[in-house]
Amino acid sequence: MKKGKKVTVIGAGNVGATVAFILAMNGVCHHVVLRDRNTEIAKGKALDMSQAANAARSHTIVTAADDAAEMAGSDVVVITAGSPRLPGMSRDDLLMINAEITKEVIQDVKKYAPDSIIIMVSNPLDVMTYVALRESGFPKERVVGMAGILDSARMAHFIFEKIGYGSGQIRASVMGGHGDDMVPLPKFSTVAGVPLTDILSDKEILEVVERTKHGGAEIVGYLKTGSAYYAPAKSTAIMVEAILKDTKQIHPCAVYLDGHYGHSDVVSGVPVALGANGVEKLFEMTLNEEQKDKFTSSVNSVRSMIDVLKNKNFFNQETV
Ligand code: NAI
Ligand code: 2OP
Repeated sequence: MKKGKKVTVIGAGNVGATVAFILAMNGVCHHVVLRDRNTEIAKGKALDMSQAANAARSHTIVTAADDAAEMAGSDVVVITAGSPRLPGMSRDDLLMINAEITKEVIQDVKKYAPDSIIIMVSNPLDVMTYVALRESGFPKERVVGMAGILDSARMAHFIFEKIGYGSGQIRASVMGGHGDDMVPLPKFSTVAGVPLTDILSDKEILEVVERTKHGGAEIVGYLKTGSAYYAPAKSTAIMVEAILKDTKQIHPCAVYLDGHYGHSDVVSGVPVALGANGVEKLFEMTLNEEQKDKFTSSVNSVRSMIDVLKNKNFFNQETV
């Protein structure tokens, strides 16, 4: 029998469990393995999802992994394991905690799923993607971070809220890191092919841009005890599907820059084609001076966090 597609999701919290649920409901793969340091939670959610899959007449099986070895043979491994920022914790404290978690789970991926493609989700996203790449030793095409699809979807929604038409036809473009200095690109955004700059005023575009940059924080402000997970999970599932189905669709994703856009040894969000080999092509868009400056400052803030890790001798592997 032909081998079925298998996806492991590490971290069965809000984002991880929702990714698994979307994959199971859509029947995107044959088997989803959920792994969390809280095994009981992963078991309960896996059982619940397997029952939902039967209700939906989906062929996807969801299981919880007691042992990391159960991720063996995974085509894709999604990493959402992480700690939230707690009171009294600085950004650097959180960076170190999540970097240690990523380093730990990457050892399992390296051992049990050495041929997989890693989709990184944990924050700070671009830095964690760099950690996953460097600690796995995987080729750079097989480690990719999720943020650009989410940030673009947020921008598209905010555009829709302003204009009230064109839902589903809005193509918003966001580049750069997944932080406050991400780079929404109104000049590259369209509604059914009509440039956004011909639809909204400069003031309205600025409002959309600012709201997009703080899209995550806006939701945290409402949820209070956690961050967004429906749009993050759907955005991640889109990446999983593009890889498993080898669609070669172009999406903004966080990838290793090796001289691209003039930057090296850093991760940032740029348009790439996703397919069975992971990142199959990276597109270099022609940016104007203002866009280049914004992209550079976004890249530099990711680089400064990577430098914090380098200065603490965090990395086991010498280079990417
Ligand atoms: P959550 O707190 O609901 O889930 C995190 C899960 O990770 C928990 O179940 C926890 O037990 C598990 N975990 C922690 N350490 C682990 C380890 N060593 N091994 C296995 N499991 C471990 O958090 P949520 O909302 O699911 O978010 C997950 C991560 O994704 C966070 O870092 C969050 O900031 C990030 N995120 C990133 C987005 C992006 O655009 N890239 C969007 C939304 C969230
Ligand atoms: C978000 O943008 C917290 O990164 C997460 O919602």
